[in-house]
Amino acid sequence: MFDTMTVTKVGGALCGSLLVFLLGNWAASALYSTGGGHGHGDEVHQGYVIDTGAGEAVAAADEGPDFATLYAAADPALGERAFAKCRACHKLDGSNGTGPHLDGVVDRAKASVAGFTFSDAMASHSDESWTPENLDKFLTNPRSYIPGNKMSFAGLPRADERANLIKYLSTVGG
Ligand code: HEC
Repeated sequence: MFDTMTVTKVGGALCGSLLVFLLGNWAASALYSTGGGHGHGDEVHQGYVIDTGAGEAVAAADEGPDFATLYAAADPALGERAFAKCRACHKLDGSNGTGPHLDGVVDRAKASVAGFTFSDAMASHSDESWTPENLDKFLTNPRSYIPGNKMSFAGLPRADERANLIKYLSTVGG
């Protein structure tokens, strides 16, 4: 009948083929699993894009209301608080400090305050005046509005704060 050697050989052969079967099974599942489930997801492209114009609408909304609208609704009481950012250099009693006095500045000619030494850059604009619109542009970014002027102030980025402040200044006579 079967001697020990035969049993060992048959057993070994069975184990061997079982191992090959298991390995093959694992390899197959590993190979096919990459594509499984998701189908061919990576290769799906949108045929066309519908332009809803939403991008442009967002860009327009970012600009917010224009200065005239903000100025019409401006609150001088809030503007008085915003003036705290200017007070270190500007007074409202007709006397000059680091900067010229700002009482009566709205619609005043630029660089026209007596007894204050304006920069050449500012003085070169003395044929213009500080309309609310010009003040708005200046206070947005003093350096880019009049390059070379000597007011060391970064600017007020908020449009409503500028409108409130200019409205307040318009109530402070000269
Ligand atoms: C660090 C000091 C400083 C601060 C802060 C400052 N300013 Fe000035 N400002 C100046 C100086 C200096 C000048 C004169 C600039 C020149 O001659 O180039 C000036 C000029 C001006 C002028 C032009 C005046 C004119 O008669 O032509 C206006 C308007 C003005 N500042 C408004 C403001 C407002 C409003 C604020 C607050 C939001 C402010 N400034 C903050 C120093 C300052």
